[in-house]
Amino acid sequence: MSAAAPRFSDGGEYLGYIGSVIDISHRKEAERVLQEANALLEMRVSAAIAERAEAEAQLRQAQKMEAVGRLTGGIAHDFNNVMQVIAGNLQLLTRDMSGNPRGEKRLTTAKAALDRGSKLASQLLAFGRRQPLAPKGVNLGRLIRGTGDMLRRALGEAIEIETIVAGGLWNTFVDGTQVENVLLNLAINARDAMNGHGKLTIEAGNASLDAAYAAQHAEVTPGQYVMLAMTDTGSGISPDLIERVFEPFFTTKPEGKGTGLGLSMVYGFVKQSGGHIKIYSELRQGTTIRIYLPRSRQPEDIETGVEGGAPSGGTEIVLVVEDDDQLRSTVIDMLCDLGYRVLKAKDAQSALAIVESGAPIDLLFTDVVMPGSLRSPELARKARERIPTIAVLFTSGYTQNAIVHGGRLDEGIDLLSKPYSREALARKIRHILGNQRQRNLARASSAQSDECSAAPRSIPRVLLVEDDPDIRAWTAHQLRELGYSVAESNDGADALALLTVEPFDILFTDLSIPGMQGGELAARALAARPSLRIVFASGYGPNEATQAVTGAIFLRKPYDERALEMSLNSAMGCARP
Ligand SMILES: Nc1ncnc2c1ncn2[C@@H]1O[C@H](COP(=O)(O)OP(=O)(O)OP(=O)(O)O)[C@@H](O)[C@H]1O
Ligand SMILES: [Mg+2]
Repeated sequence: MSAAAPRFSDGGEYLGYIGSVIDISHRKEAERVLQEANALLEMRVSAAIAERAEAEAQLRQAQKMEAVGRLTGGIAHDFNNVMQVIAGNLQLLTRDMSGNPRGEKRLTTAKAALDRGSKLASQLLAFGRRQPLAPKGVNLGRLIRGTGDMLRRALGEAIEIETIVAGGLWNTFVDGTQVENVLLNLAINARDAMNGHGKLTIEAGNASLDAAYAAQHAEVTPGQYVMLAMTDTGSGISPDLIERVFEPFFTTKPEGKGTGLGLSMVYGFVKQSGGHIKIYSELRQGTTIRIYLPRSRQPEDIETGVEGGAPSGGTEIVLVVEDDDQLRSTVIDMLCDLGYRVLKAKDAQSALAIVESGAPIDLLFTDVVMPGSLRSPELARKARERIPTIAVLFTSGYTQNAIVHGGRLDEGIDLLSKPYSREALARKIRHILGNQRQRNLARASSAQSDECSAAPRSIPRVLLVEDDPDIRAWTAHQLRELGYSVAESNDGADALALLTVEPFDILFTDLSIPGMQGGELAARALAARPSLRIVFASGYGPNEATQAVTGAIFLRKPYDERALEMSLNSAMGCARP
């Protein structure tokens, strides 16, 4: 850019121009860069807004599914209790009707309807993330190969199946039977979408979901997963329907062809197992459903021995605890029919009175949820204290309660889900009494050699550090019930002070406590008192600080009395205080 002006002498004589030349190419360049930067910023902002809107939409969808799940799970639970009564009575009626062909035929029809009802209820429970699961260490590769025949039969001859399992596949900790169920459901959907002709590809491989992926997908925890994918060459799903396919009763199939519960069940199961599910679909091209199940370091648990044969009864004494009158009398009839001697109670408190009366009882068969202040796990614990040889079997139509946490049965607890058949009841009871007999024999032979119970020992002292007053009060109570002496503290500094004045045996600490992390507290406490045993309790997994503490026991929240007891036992390195 240039600027110039004429110059004159005092006499008006033109002297020439005076001017300057300014080079503004730098300024122009700077303006251009600024404009570009602005455009980029605007683009990023609108991308961020879109991403956020997408994440919000996903969250809303997840919340909706959660709400519908809760409702469905609740209904299924009550429904199960009703069907339990019907099932029991139909089974008893069958014997009364023997030799009456018309009556038998009607009973058969009624039983078939009942089967449909139980299937529906269990699908709804599965969607509500409340089906009882029995997770084990599973290698999905082996599981997929094992389902080959079943899938072949379900798909028909005109569909090609290809299975690709990656080498070095990690294990996962899931209920294998339910994974088979998932495979079957997905395969049937694929078959229908392909009209019986096409190709189905089943893949399994290791996968890591990172923080960026988790940020874009509601309810995903970043980490290592085992991925299971099923791809078909079928009709595909239109983008506006993709969101809806997991909703219960959503189906595009004609009346009577589909219930719309297949994918709902799959969804509930995957979520209940801590996993993630994602659909990719192109209209007229096909669909891929990917399921991510959390990696587990558990070794594979290969099933040995098959249950089978006719169910047998026995003559042992069973205490039945059930608050529903009809249900109680039905199950008592079934048990008597199987030869057992039966005692009955309508709630935990009266059951405890029977136990404490000194009656010889071989099996406590109790409903999980009952009225009254005494909870069924508490009843079981007291019964075991009073009669150490007693076997315990829980029953429930619903599992999101006292004995189940995060959808998983606590280890060492046996559950018979309602509704159950006479056969299932008979088999389960024999199984449990058989196991208990083994334990009783082992107990008898190790009684003298058990170091822990040999000599009377001083009462172990626990320092309990937990800032939530309710959890602290409950845990302290349980620990005292278990025979420990307990001091309570709600923050790290206070705990360290207590540790200097009293010789504790165990430090039981929450991970996030005021003033200090549980890991740091443990490290400092150990420096002062190296023989201290450490138990960490947390709703989250172990972290670096806790892993640095060698020999520490990790107890996952929420925990119940049994898990608590086991963690303390492991910390002490023996069976009981
Ligand atoms: N692989 C697929 N390809 C195309 N559409 C699919 C596929 N899988 C599911 N869908 C769509 O999602 C809907 C819901 O599937 P879902 O399995 O929940 O129920 P359904 O198959 O209709 O009935 P049900 O499984 O209870 O017999 C289906 O009706 C179909 O429209
Ligand atoms: Mg289906």
